[in-house]
Amino acid sequence: MPNKTFEKIKQELKKAADKKGHYFKYFTLATLGVDKFARLRLVALRNVSDDLKMTFFTDKRSKKILHIKENNRVSLLFYHHKKLVQLRIEGIARINNDQYQVQKSWEQIGVEARKDYITKEAPGSAITDPETIEYLKEGDYFSIVEIDPFRIEYLKLNKKGHTKIKYYKKGDDWVNEYLVP
Ligand SMILES: Cc1cc2nc3c(=O)[nH]c(=O)nc-3n(C[C@H](O)[C@H](O)[C@H](O)COP(=O)(O)O)c2cc1C
Repeated sequence: MPNKTFEKIKQELKKAADKKGHYFKYFTLATLGVDKFARLRLVALRNVSDDLKMTFFTDKRSKKILHIKENNRVSLLFYHHKKLVQLRIEGIARINNDQYQVQKSWEQIGVEARKDYITKEAPGSAITDPETIEYLKEGDYFSIVEIDPFRIEYLKLNKKGHTKIKYYKKGDDWVNEYLVP
């Protein structure tokens, strides 16, 4: 049985998905493709389901998508600056191709933000002038990535003593274990 802290983690992550400025809104996503070179970047948490599946949006042509196709095991790092809580999460990433959900999410994105997914050249391509980036008039490279966590490590810093808890999945259940911080 996961403990009370586990429920708090879940609620906090859910809040972050819905709220701008929440400390867990942006997290570091680490991928490892066949090049065996860990690649880290920030992404925005867009949704957290009741069974803790975490969603972010990206461009289909980005390196992280290539990495996920090569190796779907990813790591996530969150830090709550006020509560001094670090979350280290490991999970399996998959690209959500459900056309209904893709369309629904696309419609929720503002016109300016859509530009992130409609550049003519792929993200990361070299350009001579940042003023001349061209955008598609039709179509897009928007995609949704869903991460299904199987391990969460919680670390709370405290002057009187830190707390570290490991949560891992056993079948459909989460099990917790205290660790030396
Ligand atoms: C605060 C912040 C939020 C970001 N959010 C996203 C995001 O939600 N999705 C995304 O693909 N890139 C996001 N980025 C850009 C990525 O950090 C990264 O530069 C880009 O996605 C290319 O990564 P890749 O080449 O490793 O795929 C964000 C960057 C910052 C600084």
